[in-house]
Amino acid sequence: MNASGTSGRRLGVLWGVVTVGMAVSAGGGPVVRAQEPSDTTIAAGRRIYTQKADCQACHGWAGDGQKMDYQSPDGANLRVSTLDRDQLIFVIKCGLPGRDMPAFDRLSYTDDRCLGRTRADLGRMGLKLPDPATTLQSREIERVADFLLTKVVGQGEMDRAKCVDFWGEEVDVCSEF
Ligand code: HEC
Repeated sequence: MNASGTSGRRLGVLWGVVTVGMAVSAGGGPVVRAQEPSDTTIAAGRRIYTQKADCQACHGWAGDGQKMDYQSPDGANLRVSTLDRDQLIFVIKCGLPGRDMPAFDRLSYTDDRCLGRTRADLGRMGLKLPDPATTLQSREIERVADFLLTKVVGQGEMDRAKCVDFWGEEVDVCSEF
């Protein structure tokens, strides 16, 4: 781990603290809760994760950090993540500057949606942000978050039963468990 990685991690912790604070202070009005995720929206989230946004290149198809592309950065093991829905959405939108996690919101770092920081601020702080394979709309980001919350985050190690549930059917990769 190099010096920028270390300061990046420190910022990541700060990022987390600020986000939680924001979520709490933002709780003024009634929370407009989107519809509960259905099988269809969760499947859509999985397709965005594995295909459109190619999260699996760095995080592995099961989200366990066993990346699919050996040249990609080592993504976090999302199965042991403790982030809640708002925090997941924030990290997917704004990425983790300095830690190789791209920002998937097209407008990230152009207005106040990423804690008011701009690309120029990140440059001044010496924090690199990789470009995502594609940008995602808010609704797509919510679907990925709901997919992760249902099938990945806090789910523990992948096993055969979880694998079949994950894919919705018995697929070849599940036979390795
Ligand atoms: C280019 C590689 C790459 C891609 C693509 C990528 N990530 Fe990441 N992601 C990372 C890295 C690296 C980290 C941070 C690892 C660390 O320093 O702990 C990370 C961290 C995260 C975290 C924070 C986990 C935690 O508990 O702190 C979440 C959530 C996440 N990624 C979700 C996603 C999703 C969803 C996608 C697709 C929309 C995605 N990532 C695409 C590399 C990537």
